[in-house]
Amino acid sequence: MTLEIHGLSRRFGGLKAVNDVTTTIADKSIHSIIGPNGAGKTTLFNLITGALAPDEGKVAFNGNDITGWTPERLAHAGIARTFQRTSIFKELPVIENVALAVRSRRGLNRSMFCSMAQEKAIREESREILARVGLNGKENIRAGSLAHGFQRALDIAIGLALEPKIMLMDEPLAGMSRGDRETVATLITRLREELGVAIVVVEHDVGMVMRLSDRITVMQHGKVIAEGPPSVIREDEAVKNAYLHGNFAA
Ligand SMILES: Nc1ncnc2c1ncn2[C@@H]1O[C@H](COP(=O)(O)OP(=O)(O)OP(=O)(O)O)[C@@H](O)[C@H]1O
Ligand SMILES: [Mg+2]
Repeated sequence: MTLEIHGLSRRFGGLKAVNDVTTTIADKSIHSIIGPNGAGKTTLFNLITGALAPDEGKVAFNGNDITGWTPERLAHAGIARTFQRTSIFKELPVIENVALAVRSRRGLNRSMFCSMAQEKAIREESREILARVGLNGKENIRAGSLAHGFQRALDIAIGLALEPKIMLMDEPLAGMSRGDRETVATLITRLREELGVAIVVVEHDVGMVMRLSDRITVMQHGKVIAEGPPSVIREDEAVKNAYLHGNFAA
């Protein structure tokens, strides 16, 4: 898997929210995107995952131009995402949240009739995915009543149901207690180790970013101001300035 981003730009009125961004996400890597509020991180995610169309530039996945593909088509090609706020169905049981995604991957929509055997296979696969993210034993709980860290794990489980090659996570640790952050951080490293999924993370917790990442891209005012491994980013002058002058919510 490689994801190559070439000269991506997107304007909102007079504002260049993403301004000529070029970067490559390597196979099986954990690659973080950091930067002050409003730097363009979420907009970049929206451009990569098809939620927004770029004004300029292109995105290539395994050498194929995927610019302008719909989120559904990208998801089926192996590009999954989680959102800045969770997108789980809070009123449904935990397992149903994952089963919906499994059905979708199998090309079955909600109203379609499934045979008993199909239904059993879907539930079995959903259970396996939930066990992978540490939600075994919680299958029948209402999703909305899970603790914060577990809701995020469920979000990730829904993404995994699509069997992605790459998963983009927008602030997976936001608003969590220290313990929940550790749970999710461990989960992220395990997904890479055990499933070989490349993970792109937008995150304000810089300490965690330094610990988790193979590579970091730093954005400010829509542009990439630095890129490299944590050891290099930590010492970068432009990044230090962005911390000082930006409202960096570390
Ligand atoms: N749909 C939109 N319409 C108009 N302006 C937008 C839209 N989406 C984002 N913006 C603006 O584009 C800029 C980049 O926003 P974006 O959400 O990508 O930043 P971010 O780096 O994700 O910030 P945060 O860390 O606060 O999540 C901001 O100035 C924002 O106000
Ligand atoms: Mg954002």
